[in-house]
Amino acid sequence: MKLNKKVLGLIVLGGLAVSGNSWSGTASALDLANTCAGCHGVDGSSVGPATPSLAGISSEYFTETMASYKDPEGRYSTIMSRIAKGYTDEEINLMAGYFSKQKMIPAAQDFDAKQAKAGAKLHKKYCEKCHEDGGRSSEDDAGILAGQWMEYMQFTMDDFTNGRRDMPKKMKKKVQKLEKAKGAAGMTQLMHFYGSQK
Ligand code: HEC
Ligand code: HEC
Repeated sequence: MKLNKKVLGLIVLGGLAVSGNSWSGTASALDLANTCAGCHGVDGSSVGPATPSLAGISSEYFTETMASYKDPEGRYSTIMSRIAKGYTDEEINLMAGYFSKQKMIPAAQDFDAKQAKAGAKLHKKYCEKCHEDGGRSSEDDAGILAGQWMEYMQFTMDDFTNGRRDMPKKMKKKVQKLEKAKGAAGMTQLMHFYGSQK
């Protein structure tokens, strides 16, 4: 059988896209970032509720998170540990620069205005200290909460409270205080607040 050149090219390209770093050294930041787009959206603004947006997150948080995914003792994940292993530190640095410069498009999701209003107050009291500017800031190595998918944040909070993912000690204190004062309803209100942020 004679394979036509174009078809062969497509097969080779497909192989590269799956194996990630087999083109090591020649890929641009955009080429690399495009290998994440199927799940994290074009330019890092996710359109799938279970997948976080990456656009606008700080380079530090990005590189620390990817390193933690690579570490068998590191951050819990369903799939990212397997994916992170396919990229060199150099490639991760390139992507960190790329994603930190993108503008996050807030997730288009339904939220309850009343709950969001109650959540705004709780945010100031329990979370603003580290998730500054209403959760918009990417300065504190903590990811962006404002405009993030509520479903992803809910899964993530469950991972934190179940102990699957390590929660920063001081954050844990605040989360426990919130739980004591408001029960589970408080966290739901917070999620609606972040989900309401445009
Ligand atoms: C198959 C879907 C999929 C692909 C492809 C994918 N991701 Fe992910 N990513 C996820 C999911 C789901 C999560 C949530 C953690 C988990 O369960 O794995 C996540 C979480 C992350 C996070 C944590 C974000 C935060 O706010 O803490 C980073 C960083 C990340 N991915 C980077 C990348 C990069 C870089 C690529 C491309 C090289 C990539 N991902 C490719 C699905 C994917
Ligand atoms: C003392 C600082 C601090 C406080 C207070 C705090 N956080 Fe965090 N938060 C962090 C840090 C640091 C991380 C990143 C942890 C990591 O790298 O795994 C984080 C991560 C998160 C994440 C996961 C983000 C992602 O993209 O995966 C969520 C959700 C979150 N915090 C919600 C909250 C909520 C809700 C509150 C208030 C009840 C709160 N945090 C209070 C420091 C804090």
